[in-house]
Amino acid sequence: MISKEDFKKLVLQGIPDVLPSPAAYEKNINHAPIRKQILSVEEKKLAIKNALRYFPVKFHSELAPEFKYELETYGRIYMYRFRPQYEITARDITWFPHKSIQAAAIMLMVSNNLDYAVAQHPHELITYGGNGAVFQNWAQYLITMKYLAEMTDEQTLVMYSGHPMGLYPSHKDAPRVVVTNGMVIPNYSKPDDWEKFNALGVSQYGQMTAGSYMYIGPQGIVHGTTITVLNAGRKVSKNNEGIEGKLFITSGLGGMSGAQPKAANIAGVVSITAEINPKAANKRYEQGWVDEIVSDVDKAIDSALEWQKKKQAHSIAYLGNIVDLWEKMAERKIKVDMGSDQTSLHNPWAGGYYPVGLSYEESNEMMAKNPAQFKELVHKSLCRQIAAINTLTANGMYFFDYGNAFLLESSRAGADVMAANGIDFKYPSYVQDIMGPMCFDYGFGPFRWVCTSSKPEDLETTDNIAMNVLEEIAKTAPEEISQQMRDNIKWIREAKANKLVVGSQARILYADAEGRIKIAKAFNDAIKSGKISQPVVLGRDHHDVSGTDSPFRETSNIYDGSKFTADMAIQNVIGDSFRGATWISIHNGGGVGWGEVINGGFGMVLDGSAESERRLKMMLLWDVNNGISRRSWARNEGAVFAIKRAMMAYPEMRVTVPEIADDKLIENLF
Ligand SMILES: NC(=O)c1ccc[n+]([C@@H]2O[C@H](COP(=O)([O-])OP(=O)(O)OC[C@H]3O[C@@H](n4cnc5c(N)ncnc54)[C@H](O)[C@@H]3O)[C@@H](O)[C@H]2O)c1
Repeated sequence: MISKEDFKKLVLQGIPDVLPSPAAYEKNINHAPIRKQILSVEEKKLAIKNALRYFPVKFHSELAPEFKYELETYGRIYMYRFRPQYEITARDITWFPHKSIQAAAIMLMVSNNLDYAVAQHPHELITYGGNGAVFQNWAQYLITMKYLAEMTDEQTLVMYSGHPMGLYPSHKDAPRVVVTNGMVIPNYSKPDDWEKFNALGVSQYGQMTAGSYMYIGPQGIVHGTTITVLNAGRKVSKNNEGIEGKLFITSGLGGMSGAQPKAANIAGVVSITAEINPKAANKRYEQGWVDEIVSDVDKAIDSALEWQKKKQAHSIAYLGNIVDLWEKMAERKIKVDMGSDQTSLHNPWAGGYYPVGLSYEESNEMMAKNPAQFKELVHKSLCRQIAAINTLTANGMYFFDYGNAFLLESSRAGADVMAANGIDFKYPSYVQDIMGPMCFDYGFGPFRWVCTSSKPEDLETTDNIAMNVLEEIAKTAPEEISQQMRDNIKWIREAKANKLVVGSQARILYADAEGRIKIAKAFNDAIKSGKISQPVVLGRDHHDVSGTDSPFRETSNIYDGSKFTADMAIQNVIGDSFRGATWISIHNGGGVGWGEVINGGFGMVLDGSAESERRLKMMLLWDVNNGISRRSWARNEGAVFAIKRAMMAYPEMRVTVPEIADDKLIENLF
C-alpha cells in the first residue's frame, strides 16, 4: 500500500516528468463499449493534436501513434498509460494534499467517482450509465488533482467538460469549482454530435452525479427506487390489501437499474429483473442485491409465482433478454401487477439496449461494425417489447416509464405507444405519477452527505442526528407530507442495517427544504463540537425538485407548456453559486440522454464554522424552493401548498402564485 507522503507527492506531480510505460489493456476490468468510428481522417488528426496539448513536446513523437491507436481501437483517446498506479478511492481527507480544505473534500469526491468498487468503467473514467464521465482522459484527472491540491480559498477552478481550464482569482464565498459538462449550441445536440465532440476530446457526457463528483454508489438510487416501487405498489393495492406478494417485472441490473431487486425486496414485493449481461447479473447476486439468477424463462416465472403464493418478498434475475420475458409473460397470461424497464435507452445505439434475437456478444460486435443494421434491430425489438407490454396492461398491469427514455425511443421506433391524442404516451413516467406529485412538488428530493473522515462511526453519528431531526419535524408536519416523513424516518432508521455503503461513507435521505436545512445545521453543530471528526460534504442527485429540466422525466409532471424550457435548472445553479455552494455543475444530458435534459447540482462543505451555517441556510432554502416555485406556477397543487407554507416560514421570500382559471370559462371560448 502506498504511504501518505508518496501519495501526496504523486498527486502534486500532475503530469509526470518521465513518461510512464505503456499500459496493458486489462481484460478483467469492466470496460466501456468500443465507440463507433465517427471522425474523418482530418478530424482524427485534430483529435490527436488536441490530446497532445496536455504534454511537453518532447513526449509527442512517442505518444502520437499510441493516441492514434487508442482512437482507432476504442473510438476515444483515454491516455491509458497515465492512469495512476495508486488506488483511487475516497481516502480520509487528511491524505489529500491541500491548501483549501474545501478543495481537499472535492478531491475525495472525485476519487470516489473513479474508485474501482464504485465506477462502472474505471479505466475509461466512466462512473455510471455507460457514458457518464468524470473526465475524458487521464491527463485531465492528473492536472485537476494537482490544481485542487495547490489552490487556495481565494481561487476558483474552472472545468470545461472534464478539461481543467485553470485556476482564477475569486473569493472565500465563491464556489471553489465551477463545472460545465456537455454544454453545446442547441442545434448541435444530437447523439452523433456527442460522439464526435467526445472523440475530438472537446466535450463529455457528465450524466448527473458522474461529472459533478457527487455519485455515492448504488444506495443513492436504492432509496429513490424504493420510494417508487413502494408507491407504485400502493397505487395498485386495492382496499388496503397491502403490497406483499405483488409482482413487479422490469429489466436492467446495471449501475442504477441494479437497485431494482434490492428496492423491491425492501418494499416487500416479488420481482423478476431481466439482464442480458452475465457480469452485471453476477455482480448484483454476489452483492446480495438479487436473491437468485435463473436463465430459463419459464423457471424464472414459476419461481416468482411460488413466492407470490407465500406472499414473501423475493427477487429473481432472469439472465436473458427482457423481450423474451415479456413475451412469455403475455403468452402464459400471467397477472403482472407492476411493470417497468431500466435498460439504458438514453444511449440506445452504443450498448444501452440489447435487441432480442442477438446474443450479448453479437450485439456488441454489430453496434461497432454495422451500426445501421444494429439500429434497425433495436427498433424491431422495442416494437415487440411494447406489443407484449400492451397485452399485459390490457390485463390490468400498471406500467410506468423509468426515466430511461424507454417510451420516447419506443415511439421513435414506431411502436404502438402513443395515447389517443397522438401527443402523450399511453403510459405515465414514474415522475408524472409518483415522484412528481408525491415528492418533488412538496420539495422532497435526494439529499445526501459524505463524511470526509471516511469513518463508519461518523456516518452512524450523522444517521442518528438526521433521524432525530426528522422525528422532531414529523411531530408537527401537516397531513399532506406525513406519509413521506414516515417512509423517510423508516429508511434512515434501517439504513445502517441495510449495508448500503459502497465507496465513501455516504448517506442518502429524501428530505424537503425544512428537513435538509435542519439536518445540515445539526451536522455543522456536531462538527463544531467535535462529535463528528471531520467536515461533511452535502449534496444531492441532480434528479431533484429544482436541479433538472427534463421533459420526459423530472419535469414530466409540468403541464403548463413550459416543460421544454430550461430556465429552472440554469437559475438554480446560478442561484446556488452566489449563495454559498462549494462547487456547482450544469450539464447537458443525464438520465434520458444528450440533448434531452439540462441538469445541475452542487456540493457544499460543512466545517463547523459560522460561515458554513450562513451558507447552508441561504443556499438550501433556494435550492429547494426554486423548483417548488416553478412547479407551483405550473399549477401543481402540492407545490402551491408547499410554497405558501414556505412563504409563511420565510416572510422575506415572496413568490408569484398562480390564480386558477375556471376550465369552463376557457372551454366556452371555443
Ligand atoms: N434507477 C433510477 O432511479 C433511474 C432513474 C432515472 C433514470 N434511470 C435510467 O435507467 C437507465 C439504466 O441506468 P443504469 O445506470 O442501470 O445503466 P446500465 O447501462 O448500467 O444498465 C442497464 C442494463 O440493462 C441491460 N440491458 C440492456 N438491454 C437489455 C435487454 N434488452 N434485456 C435485458 N437487459 C438489457 C444492460 O446489459 C445493462 O446491464 C438509464 O437510462 C438511466 O438514466 C434510472
